[in-house]
Amino acid sequence: MRKKIVAGNWKMNTTVPEGVELAKAVAAKAKEVPAGVELVVAPPFTHLALVADALKGSPVKLSAQNCADKEKGAYTGEVSVAMLCSVGCDYTILGHSERRQYYGETDAKLVEKTKLALAAGLKVILCVGENLDEREAGKHFDVVSNQTKAVLYNFTAEDMKNIVVAYEPVWAIGTGKTATAEQAEEIHACIRKVLADKFGAQVADDTTILYGGSCKPSNAKELFAQPDIDGGLIGGAALKAEDFIGIAVSF
Ligand code: 13P
Repeated sequence: MRKKIVAGNWKMNTTVPEGVELAKAVAAKAKEVPAGVELVVAPPFTHLALVADALKGSPVKLSAQNCADKEKGAYTGEVSVAMLCSVGCDYTILGHSERRQYYGETDAKLVEKTKLALAAGLKVILCVGENLDEREAGKHFDVVSNQTKAVLYNFTAEDMKNIVVAYEPVWAIGTGKTATAEQAEEIHACIRKVLADKFGAQVADDTTILYGGSCKPSNAKELFAQPDIDGGLIGGAALKAEDFIGIAVSF
């Protein structure tokens, strides 16, 4: 059975003290979440070490929001996977649409980052998703399939054990406009088929695929009831422990 995950992407929000408070509040409420649902928080880089301390003794996992595409050296402003591991990260998010859109993240870079992350023992949450124009042009299946293939077809079935996919339609991120459960489910099923075509049915069946985009306590239940939706990657609602946990108890 594949793992169910609810991950909070804090993006560029909270100061370090606020982030530590939020992590403590999530850790304190983690016991409300059904067994078998993994909680992950992804604070900004500056927060990671202190948030790791705040999460000690709790089951909540720690994720970065990005990593460098180089191992180490003269890359001013970058943060390596070794650095992330050294502060206790379990995961890194990669390929978020905000990074693709605003920071020129390419599929080629994502392949390099994923390779480095997996080699260092970090799990990867790889984000894919179409924008509004692509959806309105009816290209969403092709866009998401191509993004998935462009990165993941460079990896092996063994690597897939440490990779989670997150489907985040760009038009649903931070807009309050959630994909319907049907819209999300049909794309999740499509991603699983893309994985099955390369890695076989078992690997596809074992891969956790998260939904992200205006997910909140009021709509999580319907989304998580879909057969191919294994949890959520949560933005805005992850900034309040009560809402974040309110989503995770929706399984
Ligand atoms: P919102 O939940 O704020 O729409 O953000 C989703 C997201 O981008 C998570 O990575």
